[in-house]
Amino acid sequence: MPALSDLLVATLAAGGLAGAIPPRIGTTNTGTTSLTQVRNTNFVRNQHGPIALAKAYRKYGVPLPADLKSAVTRIVQKRSTGSAKTTPEEYDNEYLTPVSIGSPAQTLNLDFDTGSSDLWVFSSETPRSEVSDQAVYNPNKSTTSKKLNGASWEISYGDGSKSSGDVYLDRVTVGGLSVKYQAVESAQQVSKEFTADSNNDGLLGLAFSVLNTVQPTQQNTFFDNAKASLDTPVFTADLKAGAPGTYNFGYIDDSAYTGNLTFTPVDVSQGFWMFTPTGYAIGSTGAFKSTTSLSGIADTGTTLLLLPKSVVTAYYKNVSGAKYDSSQGGYVFNCNAKLPDFVIGIDDSNTITVPGSYINFEPTEPASRTCFGGIQSDAGIGFAIYGDVALKAAFVVFDAGNEQLGWAAKDLS
Ligand SMILES: *[C@@H]1O[C@H](CO)[C@@H](O)[C@H](O)[C@H]1NC(C)=O
Ligand SMILES: *[C@@H]1O[C@H](CO)[C@@H](O)[C@H](O)[C@H]1NC(C)=O
Ligand SMILES: *[C@@H]1O[C@H](CO)[C@@H](O)[C@H](O)[C@H]1NC(C)=O
Repeated sequence: MPALSDLLVATLAAGGLAGAIPPRIGTTNTGTTSLTQVRNTNFVRNQHGPIALAKAYRKYGVPLPADLKSAVTRIVQKRSTGSAKTTPEEYDNEYLTPVSIGSPAQTLNLDFDTGSSDLWVFSSETPRSEVSDQAVYNPNKSTTSKKLNGASWEISYGDGSKSSGDVYLDRVTVGGLSVKYQAVESAQQVSKEFTADSNNDGLLGLAFSVLNTVQPTQQNTFFDNAKASLDTPVFTADLKAGAPGTYNFGYIDDSAYTGNLTFTPVDVSQGFWMFTPTGYAIGSTGAFKSTTSLSGIADTGTTLLLLPKSVVTAYYKNVSGAKYDSSQGGYVFNCNAKLPDFVIGIDDSNTITVPGSYINFEPTEPASRTCFGGIQSDAGIGFAIYGDVALKAAFVVFDAGNEQLGWAAKDLS
């Protein structure tokens, strides 16, 4: 454990707007760093269960099933006719973390995404028509920016949309941890899903660098570049339900969890933080089942918990009145339904319990009594996705040195 004085904590109150309050930045190259997130309370209110699901499918290249596609189209159309941006409600659709780029520092709120490996930002090169309220990075206003000549990046999605642009090297600081020559991918085009997400100024990828999309020379993630200056090559994610969470780099805060920290090997062959749970149980006293492969990735950039169809079906059999609703493209139930916990086996004696309340994700429409489920099918992606619904139930260690994930329970109150 580092001395408290070693930690530089950048804090933004939940609900702070993008760029409104710069984080406190201290000296660089401390061996550890910690910082607190902001929740994206400006995320368009309600009806984003299907959008969250569609976003995950897009990210992993799955063509949207027709019913989900029409659910999303309907919601987006409603948005553009003005139901968007009413008083934000508190749902955990996305978590944002302040990051400083350039000199003097330009602060952008980025989505830390352990399921991708590009650091890309809205910028002065992004067409105005594709920017809503995002803070933009302007390399011309940074004395330390340098164009990476000839380099480009592109992320494409299952539905054919894509974001792309060119690349600068610049100083990037997260909490008190700085990388001098980080590839900052400047968006010259963004897909409409990103434009609509007005508080999200870009992504900071924390999967393995092998997934980075910069051509012709692949670039390292921020974490890969920072690793050498860290005490240990780890970062931890401590996401919270309905509150800002914390990312720590370089150390494991033993006071942040309870019980055992249990490590499980990571299969890095696809560039993700992929692990294999030993099984699952529905309800804290339910029978433990290990017949279905639950291999999947720990993905802070996905909102929901996406599991094999058979597991999803089994789970909702235990929720009275739950049904697959094709108008929503996913499982829904009465908002008053009591949902069982979902238990994930990490090793033979340790489990993580996702409380049923986290799986009651949100009403399908404002004031609706029908709620969209936090567990949905991973149909077609090829692996499960342990997104925020699962991750916020645990303290999770991403250990690149030993290629393993550590899981511990924590106080969820
Ligand atoms: C920087 O400024 C130059 C000159 O005004 C302009 O041509 C260029 O597009 C700007 N670059 C960015 C990244 O905004
Ligand atoms: C910790 O792990 C040990 C063995 O790995 C197990 O016997 C024990 O029950 C676990 N304790 C908790 C609090 O989970
Ligand atoms: C789930 O449903 C099965 C079959 O109806 C039942 O045996 C089991 O007790 C239920 N579990 C929970 C946690 O509700």
